Amino acid sequence: MLDSKHIYINRENHLEIGGCDAISLAKEYGTPLYVYDEETIRENCKMYVDSMNKFYGGNGRILYASKAMSCMAIYRLVNEENMGVDVVSGGEMYTAYKAGFPMEKVCFHGNNKTVDELLMALDLGVGRIVVDNEFELETLSRISSEKGRVTNVLFRIKPGVDAHTHDFVKTGQIDSKFGFALETGEALDIVKKAISTENIKYCGLHCHIGSQIFDLEPFCETAKVMMGLIGEIKEKLGAETEELNLGGGFGISYVESDDPVPYSSFMEAVSRVVHEEAEKNNLKLPFIYMEPGRSIVGAAGVTLYTVGGIKEIPDIRTYVSVDGGMADNPRYILYNADYTFLIANRAGDKKDTIVTVAGKCCESGDLLGEGVSLQKAEIGDILAVLSTGAYHYSMASHYNRLPNPAVVMVKDGESRVIVKRETYEDLIKNDI
Ligand code: LLP
Repeated sequence: MLDSKHIYINRENHLEIGGCDAISLAKEYGTPLYVYDEETIRENCKMYVDSMNKFYGGNGRILYASKAMSCMAIYRLVNEENMGVDVVSGGEMYTAYKAGFPMEKVCFHGNNKTVDELLMALDLGVGRIVVDNEFELETLSRISSEKGRVTNVLFRIKPGVDAHTHDFVKTGQIDSKFGFALETGEALDIVKKAISTENIKYCGLHCHIGSQIFDLEPFCETAKVMMGLIGEIKEKLGAETEELNLGGGFGISYVESDDPVPYSSFMEAVSRVVHEEAEKNNLKLPFIYMEPGRSIVGAAGVTLYTVGGIKEIPDIRTYVSVDGGMADNPRYILYNADYTFLIANRAGDKKDTIVTVAGKCCESGDLLGEGVSLQKAEIGDILAVLSTGAYHYSMASHYNRLPNPAVVMVKDGESRVIVKRETYEDLIKNDI
């Protein structure tokens, strides 16, 4: 957001990101443009890694959930910050691999991994596979034995905790496509089966209750439930659970009313619960993984657009149209997501108009926000949308054959392209 030390209004009354004037960036690279502040990302990584050291004695690893933003530069960056990554597809896995990421620090998720993806994970030496269903366990056992190796697995568990967030991004409840349910005994059964499955090593459990969550309570509750299951596994199956992956989901600020707790508080609270439960039930402390995605890259990103048509419909609304839209940011149309908008070339001016920001796609629903406060927009202005670093570039589409925007990383007044803008040639390169 604007009060950050890396994203602020400069002396020219322009938005500035990482020491780079947003208007100069728009001129140099064109719009729409995704801009990322490198220092913000690194500070977020360090804060998580330091908290893991401080509150959990370093007996764990932070995995960056790369679905939030996946490209080679990001994998290199989080590797430099001593983190692992979570991947959910062959594509993310391949990108990490090509970026030179140490594959033993990769955790592979997904509710329907294909056999090809599983084979790829084995071939590339992915460290942990989070098994989501029984068929996957059987497939993994078969292909691991064909390759003469043992695969390290965790199991995705639905802890039955309701996170207070949008329905589309809730995942902890029994009615979810992800993982094994606790209530039905499914979770215990699959661990039992794994222990006697050939070429499989049971390492531990995973859960993820949802995304954009602000309360500490559901995370603490989840840690408690998962430690309970670890106890049950020990008691009933005599098996040790060495690792516990508690997922991601920590919320960020999109608009002023969003009030996220500092991420270190999540780490502190969760670590406390794990320690308490281990002591109470006489369990070994598991190696902990946490998987933040949004809170690593979200606030570091700003999207820049150029204002085109402005349509004032008396007594109805004013549409301010920009040169991007649902193809580079589908989150308004999907989740009714709120954002902070500003005219980057008059960034400090009073926001004295209320408008609808529309995209350029051929669809009435292609909006980026309604009832948005904004400085009075003029054609040619650069409109900035804040906190667009997570689930924007990674969720971009080619609707209406719009080429994907470039991604630029900024730091200390320098900028560099980390993903090139797509060209029309790129769009047709696979057409026959
Ligand atoms: N781990 C697992 C297994 C996940 O499924 C996710 C997110 C994360 C970690 C990271 O969660 P985060 O820290 O980023 O909240 N497209 C939606 C968000 C979907 C999140 C999917 N899973 C959005 O734009 O809000």
